[in-house]
Amino acid sequence: MDGRLVNTSFSMNDSKEYSLRPVNFNEYIGQSKVKSNLKVFIEAANMRGDALDHVLFYGPPGLGKTTLASIISKEMNSSIRITSGPAIEKPGDLAAILTSLEEKEILFIDEIHRLSRTVEEILYSAMEDYALDIIIGKGPQAKSIRIDLAKFTLVGATTRLGLLTSPLRDRFGVLLPMDYYTNDELKEIIIRSSKILFMEITDDAALEIAKCSRGTPRVANRILKRVRDFAQVKKNNLVDIDLARHSLDLLEIDEFGLDKIDKRILEALVFNFKGGPTGIETIAHFLSEEISTLEDVYEPFLIQQGFIIRTPRGRIATDKTYKYFNINR
Ligand code: ADE
Repeated sequence: MDGRLVNTSFSMNDSKEYSLRPVNFNEYIGQSKVKSNLKVFIEAANMRGDALDHVLFYGPPGLGKTTLASIISKEMNSSIRITSGPAIEKPGDLAAILTSLEEKEILFIDEIHRLSRTVEEILYSAMEDYALDIIIGKGPQAKSIRIDLAKFTLVGATTRLGLLTSPLRDRFGVLLPMDYYTNDELKEIIIRSSKILFMEITDDAALEIAKCSRGTPRVANRILKRVRDFAQVKKNNLVDIDLARHSLDLLEIDEFGLDKIDKRILEALVFNFKGGPTGIETIAHFLSEEISTLEDVYEPFLIQQGFIIRTPRGRIATDKTYKYFNINR
């Protein structure tokens, strides 16, 4: 059965990228541990004829959480509803979705840490008892009625596990950490995407783009599409290492995969705040960027690459960062 997508927040751009998304586990490259665990849980649930237990994916953005949710629905032979924490404004919005779900259907909630408390509370009985407790009326006349729900599977995704309340986190039977991809895995993804986009690319060009993709397939595919633009305009049918490097230079992405904002963060830390420790709020304010963007998108990669250390007193630049700017300490 085809996935039923009910998502008001998907843009045209996303739908185009969607075609690069793998549709089954065989096509899905990387995250081998997550994949092998999921395969077992899905097979066992299917053998019992049961719904899959609720699943929570956590990790940095762009690593394929939504894609895996779609693959789960396919493997469970069910459909999927896609929404996100901020899109569900009122308890009634969630109640409407929950009461329309069918047996074994997948409800995917992206950015689940951004659900409001009142909406989140509705989820507790829905996840645990497959029921909704609705209060009708006010004051002494108020009555509670219980509505039974179909046995569905909630698949949640978050970039910030720490921001999930423990009652919500504890109701997920399967917690799966998503990690950054290796350069070899990204190279494979880039070669796969090139075929879908009818591009010819050399192995070393694919690896060069992979190295600059911050361990993230979404970034790799985004760069690949821009490289395709450069190739098209230059009437170059083959993307080789020279064209890849030339495109990356024009996109201002260096050989460490750092973009303009990464560099501004590191520059601020080293040159304006003497290497830290500096609070993320101070850095965000200095750069006029959102704190959550720095925390969710930029910082995890800079930490993973050893450019920044996070301490209770703030962020510190490392020797690698000073070396990056050719500064001897
Ligand atoms: N495109 C985006 N993510 C992918 C993945 N993990 N495997 C294959 N293609 C992808």
